[in-house]
Amino acid sequence: MSAAVDSALRTPRFTALPPLALYVHIPWCLRKCPYCDFNSRENRGAIPETEYVDALTADLEFALPSIWGRRVGSVFFGGGTPSLFSAAAIDRILAAVRARVPLSPDAEITLEANPGTFERQKFAEFRAAGINRLSLGVQSFDSRALAALGRVHDAHEARAAGAAAIEIFGNVNFDLMYALPGQSLADARADLAAALEFAPPHLSFYQLSIEPNTLFHRHPPRLPDEDAMADIEDAVEDALARAGYGHYETSAHAQAGRECRHNLNYWRFGDYLGIGAGAHSKLSFPDRVIRQVRYKQPQQYIERAANGAPLLEERAIARDEIGFEFMLNALRLNEGVPVTLFTERTGFPITLVQERLDAAEARDLIERDHLKIRPTALGRRFLNDLQSLFLPAGGRGPGASVQPIAVERLAP
Ligand SMILES: C[S@@+](CC[C@H](N)C(=O)[O-])C[C@H]1O[C@@H](n2cnc3c(N)ncnc32)[C@H](O)[C@@H]1O
Ligand code: SF4
Repeated sequence: MSAAVDSALRTPRFTALPPLALYVHIPWCLRKCPYCDFNSRENRGAIPETEYVDALTADLEFALPSIWGRRVGSVFFGGGTPSLFSAAAIDRILAAVRARVPLSPDAEITLEANPGTFERQKFAEFRAAGINRLSLGVQSFDSRALAALGRVHDAHEARAAGAAAIEIFGNVNFDLMYALPGQSLADARADLAAALEFAPPHLSFYQLSIEPNTLFHRHPPRLPDEDAMADIEDAVEDALARAGYGHYETSAHAQAGRECRHNLNYWRFGDYLGIGAGAHSKLSFPDRVIRQVRYKQPQQYIERAANGAPLLEERAIARDEIGFEFMLNALRLNEGVPVTLFTERTGFPITLVQERLDAAEARDLIERDHLKIRPTALGRRFLNDLQSLFLPAGGRGPGASVQPIAVERLAP
């Protein structure tokens, strides 16, 4: 790139801003799972539900100037365990959203639920409040595996919640994990068969990862070895394909037309406003793209919101990070992305990552033509290596991880 072109391309230029999604973080759980590094904490005593809803509403108000007039295509209540909240609280949050931002009439509105919090009446009330997709944290249908994972629910509760979710919402995702402590190939097959009995429109399959700052990191359980893990992955992939599910993203499988629109927006490097304790946002403006992170501690977040104090820190994504951030997401999509999406979503020409793309192609990790870039089978298998090729010179992108990232884990 010539010096003149280079200096003209220091900041992004957008002709149209990316689609916008809204993420709402609920940071409490019944009990902290030993493998979990999400911003969630055990609920001891009463959850300050009313105060938290007030804080979310104030957060949204403060954020309005940065999304002014933009339509929101999806809402995702993630956690933590949003299903710990009453349906009245979820209803209040959605009413606050509808009163302040233009929400698409067909918006996908997902709520994460834990089978340990399942009550039929409550699920029906969530649906009545406007939740039209439920993401159920089943993890496994095997009580032994659930106990080894420290889950609060057993197989019986997983089945009851699964059946009610399908009946009430229709549009349902099951989160399942594999490579669990002591899990054999036969166990994994049986788990998947149990899930398929419900024919959920969407299935997320995450390999259990051992994260720093978790109990499992301090006291690692015995996990299947790499060969066993690869056998489980192949078996899962085969069984889901035979059952008619499209494997559209590293960990996500869906029946035709049931892909998660909210998560697709992340992987296509769309914009998202994240409200709630510890929530992340990525927002584009005509000449810059910013990242925000909200204060993590729920009590501090509530107090600051009540006092009108700033709730977040933000910074612009630098030019040498944005190619990596785009690829970190886009290369998770098995179909890949159109070449033109790079410029549409980063505001920079594709030449910004030309040399990295050449290197990835030379190693047979991607295939591309003038229309599309997609990971090859090898690239999908060694996704971390592929993503690493796009790291900014001299180090890792801030906040970016090239460890295996489970799908909805990308949901901030
Ligand atoms: C943010 S959690 C929220 C769902 C809900 N709290 C629950 O656990 O049922 C979303 C999903 O991430 C997955 N997950 C969490 N920690 C993980 C880990 N260490 N390795 C792999 N997947 C993980 C689980 O499948 C979980 O359902
Ligand atoms: S895995 Fe889910 S239920 Fe368990 S602590 Fe994390 S967010 Fe809470």
